[in-house]
Amino acid sequence: MTKTQNFAVLGLQWGDEGKGKIVNFLSPNFHATCRFQGGHNAGHTLIVNGKKLILHLLPSSICEKDALSLIGKGVVLSPNDLFEEISEANTFLDGVEDRLKISSACVLILDHHKKFDQCREKSNSFKTIGTTGRGIGPAYEDKVGRRAIRLVDCFYEKILEEKLRENLDFYNFMFNKLFSVEEVSFQETFEKALSYGERLKPMTKDISKLIIEMNNDGKKVLFEGAQGALLDVDNGTYPYVTSSNSSAAGIASGSGLGPLSVSNILGIAKAYTTRVGEGPMPTELFDDIGIHIAKKGGEGGATTGRPRRCGWFDAVAMKKVIQSNSVKSLCITKLDVFDGMESIKICESYDNSDEFFEESLNLDHVKPQYIELSGWKKPIYGLKTLDDFPKEALEFISKIEEVCGVSVDIISTGPERESTIFKNDII
Ligand code: GDP
Ligand code: IMO
Ligand code: MG
Repeated sequence: MTKTQNFAVLGLQWGDEGKGKIVNFLSPNFHATCRFQGGHNAGHTLIVNGKKLILHLLPSSICEKDALSLIGKGVVLSPNDLFEEISEANTFLDGVEDRLKISSACVLILDHHKKFDQCREKSNSFKTIGTTGRGIGPAYEDKVGRRAIRLVDCFYEKILEEKLRENLDFYNFMFNKLFSVEEVSFQETFEKALSYGERLKPMTKDISKLIIEMNNDGKKVLFEGAQGALLDVDNGTYPYVTSSNSSAAGIASGSGLGPLSVSNILGIAKAYTTRVGEGPMPTELFDDIGIHIAKKGGEGGATTGRPRRCGWFDAVAMKKVIQSNSVKSLCITKLDVFDGMESIKICESYDNSDEFFEESLNLDHVKPQYIELSGWKKPIYGLKTLDDFPKEALEFISKIEEVCGVSVDIISTGPERESTIFKNDII
């Protein structure tokens, strides 16, 4: 049996857990990093040589000189946004286009997907989800509706023409009849799509074949999740979710590999909980503590700049996603945000829940029950070893392990790559 030792990093809450920082920290141990779902709704923050870089589509290994960065077929790709991001990443380390490989089967996000997303969010006839407005939902709807434009289509003029006509007939009907807004020009969209194909073709590669070849040569691949497990379209807080499988289920389908291709899944969770957009969040804080956490944690969205809602760590939802994602190991980020706080809470159980609510993650009416722990006085911000940790911070970590039933193997104490501690050796 081949031992692949491919590894996945997944967010376990509602996104923004610090995946980018941790992937960037781990990526020197891997030959390639692969995004497998989501699109430029993601915002992954890295600090590279003291400067902030926010990535939306590019894997967080892109500033790693000797690593490949892969975009699998489960990603919905906005070429324009990708080109902008390539330019920015090139200012950190040039040669981005040589290190980047993209699946030809990626579904494209074009201007009309963005327009549709925004029209629907504004319309009184539809529920407001608080999407990022970047066309993610409509592109995935195209995929399951079997009318999507994929990157490969842009390499063949005749095929593109036929598919785009069908696709735009659908959207222009909706723009005209449903939203009463201007239709989208076929010719303009067609020409743009052809030019995207031309520029992206040299970066296009069969990603599943490439990963299998790398594994056969003993090279390891890191899979980088976007969003978080509670935003997964099947296993999240539906309908307030994104439109892809942001959980472990998406790794195989989004990279074209089998389900046994990953040997370890590291779940990333903040020491508290945040959420952007609409939808239930049982432990949300509406008081001064919530405001304090938001301010100290810098909780403003990396993609849309919207403020993130803040609340206590929710161990009930966490236990559920640990199971549905086969999480073997936890990384707790932003523990430093609790520096100086008197006491800290963890939600251990819900009142008002039942089996049906739990299966469907219908969290609207549940009431969180908390345990309270002591805070710590000596700051842990930026610490690089556990030797200097106050005992209360270690007790908080032990409590998380006890209530979640999984060991915390990595602790993050600041945004920089170096402010990361291995509690156990997992690589
Ligand atoms: P992602 O979407 O999961 O990659 O997370 P984001 O980048 O959207 O949000 C995480 C934010 O927290 C970013 O601003 C990071 O720089 C920052 N961050 C990550 N880990 C830590 C940490 O341990 N402590 C502090 N204070 N900030 C962190
Ligand atoms: P990263 O990878 C936080 C949220 C949106 C909205 C819902 C649906 O940085 O963790 P969409 O545009 O995907 O149709 O919006 O999902 N959302 C995120 N929230 N972090 C993200 O990504 C998110 N990507 C989408 O705010 O509630
Ligand atoms: Mg983010």
